Amino acid sequence: MEVDMRIVMIGSGYVGLVSGTCFADFGHEVVCVDKDQRKIDALNEGIMPIYEPGLEQLVAKNVAEGRLKFTTELESAAPFADAVFIAVGTPSRRGDGHADLSYVYAAAKEIGQLIRPGAVVVTKSTVPVGTGDEVERIIRSVRDDFEFYVASNPEFLREGAAIDDFQRPDRVVIGVNEPEAAHVLNEIYRPVTTNSAPMLQMARRASELTKYAANAFLATKICFINEISDLCERVGADVGDVALGIGMDKRIGSSFLNAGPGYGGSCFPKDTLALLKTAQDHDASLRIVEAVVAVNDSRKRGMGRKVVHAMGGDVHGKSVALLGLTFKADTDDMRDSPSLAIVQTLQDAGISVRAYDPEGMANARTMMTEVTFCEDPYDAMTGTDCAVIATEWAAFRALDLQRTKDLLKEPLMVDLRNVYSRAEMEGHGFRYHAVGH
Ligand code: UGA
Repeated sequence: MEVDMRIVMIGSGYVGLVSGTCFADFGHEVVCVDKDQRKIDALNEGIMPIYEPGLEQLVAKNVAEGRLKFTTELESAAPFADAVFIAVGTPSRRGDGHADLSYVYAAAKEIGQLIRPGAVVVTKSTVPVGTGDEVERIIRSVRDDFEFYVASNPEFLREGAAIDDFQRPDRVVIGVNEPEAAHVLNEIYRPVTTNSAPMLQMARRASELTKYAANAFLATKICFINEISDLCERVGADVGDVALGIGMDKRIGSSFLNAGPGYGGSCFPKDTLALLKTAQDHDASLRIVEAVVAVNDSRKRGMGRKVVHAMGGDVHGKSVALLGLTFKADTDDMRDSPSLAIVQTLQDAGISVRAYDPEGMANARTMMTEVTFCEDPYDAMTGTDCAVIATEWAAFRALDLQRTKDLLKEPLMVDLRNVYSRAEMEGHGFRYHAVGH
């Protein structure tokens, strides 16, 4: 099977770095480009800018085999590329929640001068409907002497499981308006689509919207089970049973039904807001998504109040050990993490916080004030009035419960990820508060 396409990946952040590395592993020749010289220097020394299981080894393998390179010089790589992927950030624009497309458009302008005839420019960044049209217009404004194609190829990988998700996707979505672009993308993805992942080809706008609809739907599923979990607590039911009971219906599906402290991360919060802006711009209403955003925002603060309540309400001067800071396990990402709102709520109530996270502490130090960062979970719990599990790291699933009890002033645990069972914790003499049971 011949799969040696030449690919340039603009942006070596989460999506760009993982996608570029996996494309190289498929057998393509990949150059990852980033403007950040320090990031590129580090990557060339084998140092990853993010924590992602398996990434370092996969980068090393493909660099050693000569298929993967890192550079700041777009002009040396772009003229040879069959496909140029744009995988730069699309953060929430300050003030209005729209996706900030300035990096995408700047990349489009730059590559317009550099691409070869017939090249396909692909937006892999999460971009609002119509961005492909604008990218095409920008490139055409500097490049009207030959044909090129603009396609959309949204990425559905999750942090922490990024490589596996990329190599074994449920589906690959490509948004193409010309058969030439479809041909190049089909070749690039042949190694996964021959392994039975369906390749869904659709118009560019539908592909752009698919990405936002997928994230908004998943965010809705989480908010739905979180609200059901609140009701479970009131009526004396276990949300785990209810999730199992509904999830086995194939129309509902059992994944993404874990009740918890609300969704965070770099995608769901930003993408739900951007989707609402798109709807507003087009005089459409997405009232369900509006509700999801509001429900999730209030849930994060609500989790802090849940801890205060578990501690008996009279909490001024007390202390909490917060185990887990990142928005989920297996990442160092702190963006929009529920722990940020939880810490704020606890501090507002006069509680001091000792915290530990296996990978997130460096980022947390830049985002949290007056928190004592500790060596390990036991150091964090020493002398505190309550332990709170905020992220489902494996390291917190097997705590030495006797030692935990001895270190805490009170045998009180609030488990916001339902890592432990009530029977186990109460058996060890803890007062145990979970989510949804
Ligand atoms: C999410 C999507 O799952 C990916 O498909 C998508 O590609 C990505 O956004 C993106 O747009 O780039 P990610 O943000 O890495 O991926 O993390 P998820 O595993 O989806 O978790 C998101 C949040 O939902 C976390 O805070 C997690 O704790 C929470 N969650 C997830 C729950 O509370 N319950 C669940 O059952 C699942």
